[in-house]
Amino acid sequence: MDLGISGKVALVGASGGGLGLATAQRLAREGCNVAICDINADALPAAREAVLEAGGGKLRVFAYPVDLSDASAITEMVTAIQKDLGSIDILVTNAGGPPPGTFDDATDEKWLRGYALTFMSTVRLIRSVLPEMKTKGWGRIINLASRALLEPIPNLMISNAVRLAMSGIAKTLAPEIASSGITINNIGPGPTSTDRAIELAGARAKKKGISVEEELELTAKQIPHGRLGRPEELAATAAFFASELAGHITGTTLLVDGGETKAL
Ligand SMILES: NC(=O)c1ccc[n+]([C@@H]2O[C@H](COP(=O)([O-])OP(=O)(O)OC[C@H]3O[C@@H](n4cnc5c(N)ncnc54)[C@H](O)[C@@H]3O)[C@@H](O)[C@H]2O)c1
Repeated sequence: MDLGISGKVALVGASGGGLGLATAQRLAREGCNVAICDINADALPAAREAVLEAGGGKLRVFAYPVDLSDASAITEMVTAIQKDLGSIDILVTNAGGPPPGTFDDATDEKWLRGYALTFMSTVRLIRSVLPEMKTKGWGRIINLASRALLEPIPNLMISNAVRLAMSGIAKTLAPEIASSGITINNIGPGPTSTDRAIELAGARAKKKGISVEEELELTAKQIPHGRLGRPEELAATAAFFASELAGHITGTTLLVDGGETKAL
């Protein structure tokens, strides 16, 4: 299926690893020139190679070290991308998830950090790309969020609360930018095999006094498919939302969770 996005410029947040990297690779396979970024500068050279390889070595791929919780760092990065690759057509907002824990674990410092990282990075990234998307009359914004948009996940207090605000942005912004040919949608992954899934399983395992492997097995059993998601499955969904074909879909949330979420 031709997604119709060959030659577009895509920025994928937190793409030094995990879901961001898988999404950047998928967009490169679809012929996009890709900007990847991450706070972990050491991860970027290998990630860039992987994205270049996914694109058959023919595309332009630039890598930017950035702390996405920092407003001025986002502005500087987007200015650099516009100079290196041109204006951004496809934005995938993504950042490392907030720390796990209950309400009692959540200090003001952790709340504010989670808010800056998960919520304000989304706001600032969207703000930085919208003017040029409006000028061109085309744009795709995809927020990598969580299945928590539909059903709160135990022991993820900050993530559950802050991500709902992301959903509020998408639903409110969608009609504001629709006439400019820009769509905005959320993807809600369930447990997917990345470092984050292992980190969260580790936190749950510690509370239960079991090993991370045992906890990952229990997690897989709760998913009707009987396994964790694969990053490339999430990435394929992001690529579809980025496509020309998805031009009439906006303001929605699509779960990629193997059927785990019970909410209607
Ligand atoms: N993997 C899952 O099971 C799962 C499920 C639901 C939601 N999510 C969410 O999806 C998002 C991506 O998750 P993942 O599984 O790819 O996680 P991951 O831990 O595998 O990768 C996260 C990436 O974000 C980078 N990062 C962290 N803080 C950053 C910052 N301040 N600025 C820039 N980059 C930063 C890390 O260096 C890392 O490369 C997270 O918000 C996570 O909570 C993941």
